Amino acid sequence: MKPLLKVLNNNKARTPPCWLMRQAGRYLPEYLELRSKNNNFLNFCLSPHLAAQATLQPLQRYNLDAAIIFSDILVIPYALGQKIEFIENKGPILEPLSQPEHLARLDWKGIERVTSHVCEAIDLVKAQLSPTTTLIGFAGASWTLACYMIEGHSSRDFNQAKAFAFRWPKAFQILLNQLAEITADYLIAQVNAGAEVLQLFDSWAGCVPSSHFYPWVIEPTRKIVQRVKESYPDVPIIGFPRRCGAWYKEFLMLTGVTALSLDDTLNLIWARQELGKQAVLQGALNPMMLVFGGLALRHEVERQLKILNTGPYIFNLGHGILPETPPAHVQNLIELIKNLTQNEEL
Ligand code: CP3
Repeated sequence: MKPLLKVLNNNKARTPPCWLMRQAGRYLPEYLELRSKNNNFLNFCLSPHLAAQATLQPLQRYNLDAAIIFSDILVIPYALGQKIEFIENKGPILEPLSQPEHLARLDWKGIERVTSHVCEAIDLVKAQLSPTTTLIGFAGASWTLACYMIEGHSSRDFNQAKAFAFRWPKAFQILLNQLAEITADYLIAQVNAGAEVLQLFDSWAGCVPSSHFYPWVIEPTRKIVQRVKESYPDVPIIGFPRRCGAWYKEFLMLTGVTALSLDDTLNLIWARQELGKQAVLQGALNPMMLVFGGLALRHEVERQLKILNTGPYIFNLGHGILPETPPAHVQNLIELIKNLTQNEEL
């Protein structure tokens, strides 16, 4: 069995499998080169040949255990007909859904517009993947998608999205439910096409008020997982409710996800103890440590292995790789993990 799938099936590995969130991207000169010929990011994501090439770029350089299909969580609002643009150095800009009436603009049948492209990219990647590498499909969870759709741009706290939810709870609930449904369809289509593992990114779970963590994060995620499992009971699903602190425990118990991706602020000792020795955990290196490299990186990798590699564990970052990361540091990291776990040092 492929190393990543083995761990996701609850087996501890001596050397944990490793992949990195946002492993394809702007820190790689070959990505910048490919991207420079295509200035519209969404067209780039939705061109199967380009997406397949970008997916495979990090694997041509490094001995990583997984490929994650190159796309973006915001292809979903695009598919629903929401106006969206990616502006350099600014990020995504969407026409915000600022009133409940605006929800009527969304075309819930539009999802087909992106599914076929992403599935074609998956098909192309699968044909070129080495037999030990696992292909990961992904989507944004409902809360994080709703954040961008309502706010219209990145934010530290997504307070406009919260204001919408408090002012119009019914409309907000409908939005979360509909997003959960089409996200499940979208993920099922990715598995049909060849994705072997799924990751659900809830990047803004950390700014949900505690009072609403259940309806905004847990419940929509539980629905997505349940629907995917009705079609594919065995497909592993990794949940990433970033920066939700102690809520990770309820999230694991109540959503049905197979594994948890931990962020870089979580107390890892708490995590391994409270989530359990059997829990499949992924993470949680601070992305700046990979930028900095050197001794700080070595010490932190050692610490994370000591704490987390006591059960099923997948090495990863606590959030996406930063564009300023020197590509050589990724190579160093992979060698470091291997050396530290094969020399009985730990
Ligand atoms: O290698 C991979 O991980 C696959 C590709 C991938 C991208 N985005 C490509 C991308 C994945 C898994 C994502 C997920 C994503 N997209 C998330 C969840 C994870 C996270 O980082 O929190 C979110 C919130 C988004 C939305 C998004 N896309 C933002 C806010 C931005 C702009 C800021 C940024 O990080 O660049 C993007 C653009 C984006 N998505 C780029 C890439 C490679 C850069 C675009 C470019 O090439 O100019």
